[in-house]
Amino acid sequence: MLGNKALKSTLLVSMLSLASVVFSAQSNAAQTFVTTQDGSPLTIPAELFDTSAAKEFLETGKNIYIGNAEAQARGHKIFNLYSCTQCHGPEAKGQVGPGLIGPTFRYDKDATNKGMFETVWHGTNGGMGAKGIGLMDATDASNGLTPDELLKVISWIRAQGGVTGN
Ligand code: HEC
Repeated sequence: MLGNKALKSTLLVSMLSLASVVFSAQSNAAQTFVTTQDGSPLTIPAELFDTSAAKEFLETGKNIYIGNAEAQARGHKIFNLYSCTQCHGPEAKGQVGPGLIGPTFRYDKDATNKGMFETVWHGTNGGMGAKGIGLMDATDASNGLTPDELLKVISWIRAQGGVTGN
C-alpha cells in the first residue's frame, strides 16, 4: 500500500511540475505593447495587470469582458467618469472626438482590443491624451485607468457597435 507520505510527495511533485508548466507558458505568452503615436515599445508594469481578466489580456491579448453585461455597466460608468463622454459622445458615436464603434477606425489597429487598449493607454498625436494610470496626469501618479478598468471601458464601447475586437 502506498504510504501517506509517499502519496503526499507524489502529489507535491506533480503540483510543482504543473505550476512550472503554467508559469513558463505565462512568461512565454506575455504580450508586448507598442504606442499608437509611432509604434515604439510601450512598457506597462506587469503588476498593474492585477485581476484575472487583466492577466488573461496580458497573456493572450484577448478581452474576456467582451459580452459581459456587468463589465459593460462598470465600463460605462468609467467612460463617464473619465470624460470620454465629453469628447466621444454618450453612446461613443462621436462628438468633438471621433465615434469609437467602428467598423472603421482612425487607427486601423483599434479594430482589435489590444490596439484600442494601446491607443487609450498612451494616447495619440491627434488630440487624444494618455489615459493609463500614471500617464493621464503627470502631477498624480495614481490618476488614470487601470488595465482592468480599461478592458471594461472597451467592453462597453464594443457593445455599442458590431465589432468585438477579440
Ligand atoms: C479631450 C477630448 C477627449 C477625451 C476626454 C477622450 N478622447 Fe478619445 N479621442 C479624442 C480625439 C480628438 C481623438 C482622435 C485622435 C487622433 O485622431 O489622433 C480620440 C481618439 C480615440 C480613440 C481612437 C479612435 C479610432 O478611430 O481609432 C479611442 C479608442 C479613444 N479616443 C477612446 C477614448 C476613451 C476610452 C476615453 C476616456 C477614457 C477618451 N477617448 C477620452 C478626444 C478625446
